[in-house]
Amino acid sequence: MNAELAQNPEAKGDKHEAFPVVSVNSRIAGSGMHVPERVIPNSHFASYLETSDEWIRDRTGISERRWVEGTVGASELAEPAARRAIARAGLKPEQIDGIVFATVTPDYVFPSSACFLQQRLGISGGLAFDVNAVCSGFVYALVTADALIAKGLCRRVLVVGADIYSKIINHNDRRTCVLFGDGAGAVVLVAAGGDEATGSAVTGGGGMIRGIYASELGADGSGTDILCTPMGTAAPATPDSLLTDAHYLRMEGREVFKLAVRRLAEINQHVIEANGFSLEQVDYFVSHQANRRILQAMGKNLGIPDEKVLMNVERYGNTSAASIPILLAEAEEQGTLTKGSLVALSAFGGGVTWGAVLLRW
Ligand code: ACO
Repeated sequence: MNAELAQNPEAKGDKHEAFPVVSVNSRIAGSGMHVPERVIPNSHFASYLETSDEWIRDRTGISERRWVEGTVGASELAEPAARRAIARAGLKPEQIDGIVFATVTPDYVFPSSACFLQQRLGISGGLAFDVNAVCSGFVYALVTADALIAKGLCRRVLVVGADIYSKIINHNDRRTCVLFGDGAGAVVLVAAGGDEATGSAVTGGGGMIRGIYASELGADGSGTDILCTPMGTAAPATPDSLLTDAHYLRMEGREVFKLAVRRLAEINQHVIEANGFSLEQVDYFVSHQANRRILQAMGKNLGIPDEKVLMNVERYGNTSAASIPILLAEAEEQGTLTKGSLVALSAFGGGVTWGAVLLRW
């Protein structure tokens, strides 16, 4: 068991006396991202659909996205992100003892993309599996990895989010095809209790504890129809279904929008305040990048300043499970996130699913 229990000097013990301490099992030791080189600007869609750069920017905040060229598997897209995250953590691939890979666009039906990534990294022995929670996938994977570390099953887990939606969208449906991009992000989650390679979770004499403070996950299966890609055992491919484009992603945009705004605000508030912190204490909100208007509405509902809601949806579109780790990696690279930043992650996606994590970077 690697858990570390310590007094957190900043927790608001007065408001929630039951939570005056934080229990930390793991912390993020490094992050990495990778997107395809091919840039698809909004003008691409305007060239063959009834849409415009102005409509897409105005309604979504997206200016461009990246799409793979030809056939690329999720593990191939993830490999450079994973290698970067491992190097930033000061580790070598062979020191990773678990891979949890969030994706809904895996290399194959099976084996998992986690196993394909293991093969690409030239490692074996640790556990490896995929997680399907659509746009909430990375948060689900991170919480799962934290639990694996808490149970002593792993010490250094590679947590990946990678998706290639350019292969599952209907390129003739203007309501959905403009929204999604391909990409991959990864973090290395290490046991917090001290490690010869990655050090301890506690930074400095002030007792500031780095790591995952709290998390929550949820799902409501009554929402399966509002966002889905009907391809699988319940919707097998037939010549007819292929001709009618029946297997592409479908979405009730307005409904998803409303649910996402409400749920993201709720789970952020809950994961922060139920653990004795206040919204003001959080330095950055790193939420799934689906749409700028969703993120702005979430921020407004929470009453937090715009600059605390990090965004890169303008450049990558909605990269599903990859969006949060891509944003984390960019923020780490740019020096926005520094050791000790208090960060709230949150996501909402198909299922419907949602999840939030409060952590100190
Ligand atoms: N260009 C021009 N017009 C368009 C486009 C387009 N690309 N897309 C839709 N329209 C039209 C519609 O056809 C409709 O026209 P009509 O009134 O003649 O029927 C009109 O615009 C309004 O359509 P709405 O769907 O009501 O537009 P809205 O303002 O809601 O914006 C959007 C659509 C951007 C999809 C928005 O609903 C949204 O962002 N929803 C959430 C999407 C999302 O976050 N999805 C990911 C969830 S996470 C995951 O798990 C994948």
